[in-house]
Amino acid sequence: MAKLIFENTSEEVDIEDGKSIKDECEQAGIPFACSEGVCGSCIIEVVEGMDNFTEPTQAEKDFLGEIQTERLACQCKIKGGSVKIKF
Ligand code: FES
Repeated sequence: MAKLIFENTSEEVDIEDGKSIKDECEQAGIPFACSEGVCGSCIIEVVEGMDNFTEPTQAEKDFLGEIQTERLACQCKIKGGSVKIKF
């Protein structure tokens, strides 16, 4: 079981390894629109644990350019461990 931590609210949620973080992010208040990595509404900042997310998708690379701290929550899956994000 992986853990997603929202820095803004200090909320922590458990997510099954390998699963998308979209539902949990939506519940936390992150706005989603296209869910396809095109609109950018679900942009998040990864504070800790970037390596615990799956590799950026092509859509994320197209939208964000070089991936440093930002990801698109509709595209991210958590591999395991914990990731702290901010939105
Ligand atoms: S919801 Fe549009 S990029 Fe994620």
